[in-house]
Amino acid sequence: MGQFPLTLSRFIIRSQAERPSATGECSSLLNQIGLVGKIIAHDLRRAGLINILGTTGETNVQGETVKKLDEIANDTFLRAFQGGGLVCALGSEEMEQMVLLPENCPQGTYMLLFDPLDGSSNTDCNMPLGSIFSVLKHTQTDRPPTESDLLKKGIEQVAAGYLLFGSSTMLVYTTGHGVHGFTLDPGIGEYVLSHERIQIPQRGKVYAANEGNRHKWPSGTQQYIEFLKTPDSAAGRPYSGRYSGCLVADVHRILLGGGVYLYPGEVDKPEGKLRLLYEANPLGMVVEQAGGRASTGTMRILDIEPKKIHQRVPLIIGSQGDVETAEAFIQGRA
Ligand code: AHG
Ligand code: MN
Ligand code: MN
Repeated sequence: MGQFPLTLSRFIIRSQAERPSATGECSSLLNQIGLVGKIIAHDLRRAGLINILGTTGETNVQGETVKKLDEIANDTFLRAFQGGGLVCALGSEEMEQMVLLPENCPQGTYMLLFDPLDGSSNTDCNMPLGSIFSVLKHTQTDRPPTESDLLKKGIEQVAAGYLLFGSSTMLVYTTGHGVHGFTLDPGIGEYVLSHERIQIPQRGKVYAANEGNRHKWPSGTQQYIEFLKTPDSAAGRPYSGRYSGCLVADVHRILLGGGVYLYPGEVDKPEGKLRLLYEANPLGMVVEQAGGRASTGTMRILDIEPKKIHQRVPLIIGSQGDVETAEAFIQGRA
């Protein structure tokens, strides 16, 4: 008889027992994220049959075309948390302003930032998708939160992680005590521990970048990618290119096997494409907790003082050694 499944709920209770200071609130929040993942996965697994592919015809605050699944995923997060008790504010890639809970709702102490559906260009071709979440604590409990309360550095996150809708559905998170991965067993409707205390290799042999943008990159970035492709068997080069169009899927591969993902700054767009509060910060916390590094190319992601809720940053993330080499090229020190 196989070992009894260690479910997300049991794992959280066990971890909580090890840290008396932890309140149950963050645990309930993580369980609710798990439920959101089950509901989104349920939609995605048959998306081509229930008329939820394609676009809504709208454009979001990012200036991007909104896919029906972006909206569905966003609504799922909102409905999961607007019932109250877990959070007091919600910030989403798909919503221009932060959403407060109605006054008459029990207010939680946490604020949740999320990218409800990451990798939206993959929705209609059945490629990997994800959701990314970042948990902050509202410390000024004498008043409701304002947008500026969301503008906390990544080092202030109390929890962070992602859902990966790949060949299986996974929930990967950290509360600052290591990174743990759970695989959804649809047969029992539970997330079961499958990757305890993930550690990212010091270096990998994979790089993920959209080389279609190569002509827009500064020379240091171009030189780094050329360096990765230059054969040197002693150094394990050339690296293999692996780019899925979904940040969560590419970072997950790198978290487990090592390597580096880059969405770098461009000559005419030095801030790059990815968003700090609900993409770079949460994935930065996860990767650092696994022993890796997350940088803009010139500074640590988690040290950035946010100025705006939808602020973009360049992102170089993955194995410590690989990100440090990328920084050396980008800073002209290589
Ligand atoms: P989102 O779908 O939430 O906008 O995120 C897409 C991001 C990231 O997931 C992916 O790695 C990158 O954008 C792809 O961008 P390009 O299509 O420009 O390569
Ligand atoms: Mn995204
Ligand atoms: Mn998105």
